[in-house]
Amino acid sequence: MQALDIAVLRGQFPALNQLVDGKTPIFFDGPGGAQVPRPVLTAMTDYLGHFNANLGGPFFSARATEQQAQRARQAVATLLGADRAEEIVFGANFTTLTFAVSRALSREWQAGDEIIVSALDHYSNVSSWQQAAADRGVVVHQVRVDVASGGLDYAQLLTLLGPKTRLVAVTAASNTTGTLVDIPRIADAVHSVGALLYVDAVHFAPHERIDVQAWDCDFLGCSAYKFFGPHLGILYGKHRHLERFTPYKVEPAKNVAPYKWETGTQNWEALAGVEATVEYLASLSGLDAAEHDLEARIDLAFARSRAHEQQLGAHLLARLAERPWFTLHGINDSKGRTPTFAITSNRHTPTEMAEYLGHHQVCSWAGHFYALALVEQLGVSEGVLRVGCMHYNTQAEIDRLFALLDDMPY
Ligand SMILES: Cc1ncc(COP(=O)(O)O)c(C=O)c1O
Repeated sequence: MQALDIAVLRGQFPALNQLVDGKTPIFFDGPGGAQVPRPVLTAMTDYLGHFNANLGGPFFSARATEQQAQRARQAVATLLGADRAEEIVFGANFTTLTFAVSRALSREWQAGDEIIVSALDHYSNVSSWQQAAADRGVVVHQVRVDVASGGLDYAQLLTLLGPKTRLVAVTAASNTTGTLVDIPRIADAVHSVGALLYVDAVHFAPHERIDVQAWDCDFLGCSAYKFFGPHLGILYGKHRHLERFTPYKVEPAKNVAPYKWETGTQNWEALAGVEATVEYLASLSGLDAAEHDLEARIDLAFARSRAHEQQLGAHLLARLAERPWFTLHGINDSKGRTPTFAITSNRHTPTEMAEYLGHHQVCSWAGHFYALALVEQLGVSEGVLRVGCMHYNTQAEIDRLFALLDDMPY
């Protein structure tokens, strides 16, 4: 497999080719939101500049909007490995879509039923379920984190599953430690007790290939702004679930899936953007679009990007190991993880490090990243410094990060 040409792909990102106070910025804030390549920007402004319309009008721009939406739905279905475009729902963001699903699913819950959330998760995939459960008198269990791996305590999850379990909500990868979760392994166990599986793939999506059919998840959500696209929430649901469950909706709006889940006017320019985002991702394969289908191109693209990200991860871990004043929270391996690293130092607080880096145009975050229970279990009350690499990052940028951290007065 040929390596990604990082210089060429970086050339497509205006953000990576600007000067801020005379310096080229470095973006290690990808887990909070990735930078966007030019074809995505062009698709969005082209849509707004030529067609801005709503659906159903007897004129060209309304028809173009409808066709654009359908192409975006199909492209995202292929990206997620869904069987059909009608299994894809668009919305404001992952959190809003998850609240909509929690309200719809919980309509069928009875007092005494149980659901399971995880301590590894961003709280949008926790609070939405806890609040729906509270409304219905449903018991909520929270699976612990396995502190050594920064991942999920699978053994505890298995003990919590039982005949009363209605739903398990879990992330595919921690947005803080980067540790991956074995979703197919969970899916079998969840389905064996007749429960549904709701997966948060927001952090996973820019790094690894998603395959909702192979994973056999009932629902999966992600956000395009984390995988080089616009601010757009995406929900996959097995078609039979999207048909059967009843979301809150406005009376005259279409009552069939997926449209009944899409409230109000959609962000059509973001749909134009997400179609271009999928094409950008597929282009990382280097394969000719005329000769290879989108699925095959996406498969190879993720294999190539993973190889580069694992090299970045190995490089970062090696630099970290040379500096014993840092603590890495999570697995000390470039495999089994995304290249997202949770770091603390006995010289500076996470906030001091992020502010110092920000002053030098290196973007990173400090805090808990809404993974409240994880940070509590890790025992890091001031949070962590999160250094998140994307496929557009380089080893030279990692070296610059450590050079700056070395220079920090203490
Ligand atoms: C793992 C994870 N889940 C959920 C969210 C929330 O996503 P959204 O901003 O699309 O609501 C985030 C955002 O940072 C996240 O990292």
